[in-house]
Amino acid sequence: MNSFEFNKIAGAFLMSLLIITVIGHIGNFIIPKPVVQHEDAGHEVNAAPAAAAVPEAPPKPIAELLKTASAEEGAKVFKTKCTSCHNSEKGGANKVGPNLWNIVGDTKGDPHLNFNFSDAMKAKGGTWTYDDLSAFLLNPKGFIPGTRMTFVGLKKDEERANVIAFLRAQSDSPKPLP
Ligand code: HEC
Repeated sequence: MNSFEFNKIAGAFLMSLLIITVIGHIGNFIIPKPVVQHEDAGHEVNAAPAAAAVPEAPPKPIAELLKTASAEEGAKVFKTKCTSCHNSEKGGANKVGPNLWNIVGDTKGDPHLNFNFSDAMKAKGGTWTYDDLSAFLLNPKGFIPGTRMTFVGLKKDEERANVIAFLRAQSDSPKPLP
């Protein structure tokens, strides 16, 4: 092969590299990267989306979390995430969801609230222990399939514990901590 031919081949090779690179860039431009929305976007920078592939650690026991929980912080979370559907004051009205005054230790789907609870909630039965509240608030539909509470859940242990500490305080005589 003479040097002219060699130059042609090398040139063609470089040209195709260039084209591949350009096409790659155009592709990235045309196909936007998926936007991963995190429940808490804005509060803090979340781990990279790739971390979602790692299996979630099981939640810590609520008894342990409540030792360091803050009812004041919980009030803030409640205000932003729950008040659209719930009032937590004594004698407060039911909204989309039932009034939550004195909920810790109360019967699930308590008929005294005069709220139209789902059959699933009424069938669940028992009282709202700290464990059950935590499981429900972590994943409402996971804990009570068929519940009418359409809320994604409080996935962060600390946030959930703070809200439960807040709910505990919404009572004339808060139940003892677990
Ligand atoms: C979109 C509206 C909505 C949001 C937001 C919501 N809830 Fe609810 N919640 C409901 C409904 C509706 C029910 C009744 C569920 C049923 O009957 O299955 C309910 C039930 C409950 C119950 C059981 C009440 C009882 O008397 O048995 C608790 C506890 C509760 N919610 C806590 C919370 C907390 C805490 C938050 C915020 C982190 C929250 N909810 C956010 C609608 C909502």
